[in-house]
Amino acid sequence: MSYAELSDTYIAGTYGRFPVEIQSSEHSFVRDTEERTFIDLGSGIAVNTFGHDEGWAEAVAAQARLLAHTSNLYYTEPQARFAQTLCERTDMKRVFFSNSGAEANECLLKTARKWAADRWGENVRSGILALENSFHGRTLFTLAATGQEQFHHDFGPFPAGFSYVRPNDMDALETAFDAAAGTCCAILMELVQGEGGVVVLEPSFVQRAAALAEKHECLLCIDEVQTGNGRTGTLFAYEQYGIRPDIVSTAKGLAGGLPMGATLFGEHTANTLTPGSHGSTFGGNPICAAAASYVWAHLDEACLQGVKERAAYIASRLPDLPWATGSSGLGLMIGIACKEGFTAKQIAAAALEKGVMVLTAHEKVRLLPPLNIPMDVLAQAMDVLAGIVPDAQ
Ligand SMILES: Cc1ncc(COP(=O)(O)O)c(C=O)c1O
Repeated sequence: MSYAELSDTYIAGTYGRFPVEIQSSEHSFVRDTEERTFIDLGSGIAVNTFGHDEGWAEAVAAQARLLAHTSNLYYTEPQARFAQTLCERTDMKRVFFSNSGAEANECLLKTARKWAADRWGENVRSGILALENSFHGRTLFTLAATGQEQFHHDFGPFPAGFSYVRPNDMDALETAFDAAAGTCCAILMELVQGEGGVVVLEPSFVQRAAALAEKHECLLCIDEVQTGNGRTGTLFAYEQYGIRPDIVSTAKGLAGGLPMGATLFGEHTANTLTPGSHGSTFGGNPICAAAASYVWAHLDEACLQGVKERAAYIASRLPDLPWATGSSGLGLMIGIACKEGFTAKQIAAAALEKGVMVLTAHEKVRLLPPLNIPMDVLAQAMDVLAGIVPDAQ
């Protein structure tokens, strides 16, 4: 049987996959079992920060030889050093390491609840504001935080206590905070709603949310699982919004291709988690931490500037795409709306056929290329996207 047949036979049917068997990779390219080469504009959904990178692979291999794993009952250098890097470069005070975005958010939500329980007593202020159209993960807690009705079926009962505010709706924000006064401990937001169709929050909305959170003694919690790690042109997107979050979650591109999540705490929440209150067997695993250190060592000014230049280049090429009507996004997190008669899924399938991997998010085509994709490769990929015309459908 082919890999595809084996997968469809033996793996739970949770994914709608494209009919491509990926075999190997090199920088911004992947190759399949039929020796076809694709330019990867999806980076494994914002994970392969620097594409398929030789230096990264060497850092991972070296750490695997030295120490692959020990438990969190002991100290390890890669974990300690990377925690220091994260805190020093973000102004956050402490971090908890996990293995995925959902877990980073699970930790964020648990910490918010515990912070409130420590201050006001258990279950007094357990409410959490989240945004409509958000996506925070697939655990029950993070599904409950996710403000999309389609995710609130089949697995109930879900954890209670969430209210959802329409993004960029200032009146709804004020009303929600007023309604939640005295019962709510946090607001959770993605600054660019990735899975929700690359919806960028307006700075005025985010800053108002931050002010209201402060007024109502609520924690300002930012989900940077997708927007973090240089993706939007700064280490974290919140830097572009003039806010100081109390808790930030991240994952995806953090370790550049290995599973790692991180929940970062500001000064109000730095000591909320105490021995035994949370934990993870694999969290901060030496190999993942070494991979993340490699990624963050390369997230320097030149890299972030390169993100902005590539984003500007993509924006300049959008008029060439015969199927596009407009775009949204920040840095190299880009959503392209399709003209009538085209669906994002059709465009993704047509692009794949022509050797370019793109993603979709709701009704948009989504681009999340490697942060350092060479300009000539990016140009080649945009030429391919420009060649998708009605006749080719
Ligand atoms: C903003 C955001 N939060 C959380 C998650 C969940 O991350 P994971 O799939 O690593 O659990 C995602 C995944 O798409 C995400 O985009």
